Amino acid sequence: MKLADVGNTPFVEVYGLLPNGNRLFSKCEYMNPTGSHKDRTYLNIIENMEKQGVIRKGMTLIDCSTGNGGAALAWIGREKGYKIIVFMPEGMTDERKQQILSFGADIIETPKETFLMGAAIAADEYRKKHPVGEVCFLDQSSTLLNKSAWHACGQEIVSALHRQRVVPDLFICSIGTGGTFCGIADILRREYKNIKTIGIEVDRSAPLYASRRGEVFEHKSHNLMGLGAGVLSVNTIPELIDEVRVVDGHAAWDRMKKFIAEYNFGIGPTCGANLMVCEDVARLESGKNIVTLFFDSAWKYESRWEGVYPDYAEAE
Ligand SMILES: Cc1ncc(COP(=O)(O)O)c(C=O)c1O
Repeated sequence: MKLADVGNTPFVEVYGLLPNGNRLFSKCEYMNPTGSHKDRTYLNIIENMEKQGVIRKGMTLIDCSTGNGGAALAWIGREKGYKIIVFMPEGMTDERKQQILSFGADIIETPKETFLMGAAIAADEYRKKHPVGEVCFLDQSSTLLNKSAWHACGQEIVSALHRQRVVPDLFICSIGTGGTFCGIADILRREYKNIKTIGIEVDRSAPLYASRRGEVFEHKSHNLMGLGAGVLSVNTIPELIDEVRVVDGHAAWDRMKKFIAEYNFGIGPTCGANLMVCEDVARLESGKNIVTLFFDSAWKYESRWEGVYPDYAEAE
């Protein structure tokens, strides 16, 4: 696999899934080289920071991740000649950890109690202990180079829709940092003035949903890794998100498994969340064109196939 293989993923129509003559299209980001959408994110962050002279070959690049970002960073870092350290909350899947290690990166596990917030604090402390120029904390949550990575994907979707002479009515997709959602939504909005965008959060950690309802946000542990970090990233740009819905993590896992059995696409649990909301919307609509995204691959979750992370078992 080569860096040039990142992006240009298939854009497919998923036949027979939605009721009422609604059509579903999905961008297959799980087909990126490391098996997730985060290849685009880190390639863009690293290449732009190189251009800006912020980082150069030989430096140590660090970031926090539940696994997909870490694997993408580890692989791209190795290809480009960086040392990589991934700060990960303990209890993530073995497949994700093994993948990161296989690319020659180091993992520093941080306490489960503080989840990704704790991993970010640990990464920042590590950075402070080293001279500038030796270590760079990329911080995918705080750099808009995350969102801008997704403009190219948005353009690919627009080109594919043009070729098929399809005008999209809705873009429906989950939000972690929000980089994927907002980068694509930005491009789709410019092209299709009437498109409606619906963001998805996991119900146990939904800061945007809480703020829209005027509720106090509280982070609770959950089983949809990649969503619900516990903080709102600068990449979650509220103006680009018309509506926010929440999903139950276990229901998303069940939806993923049913989809894999029926369609034989090896997708992960947050893709199940996307499908659930597309179906909910489609039940009340007819003749709409809905665009969504498949983030990552099922094989990354085999050791947790019951959808339970023992360290993050829900307390109530
Ligand atoms: C499996 C999975 N789904 C969805 C997301 C959300 O992507 P983003 O951070 O771009 O919002 C992530 C992020 O890590 C993820 O790993």
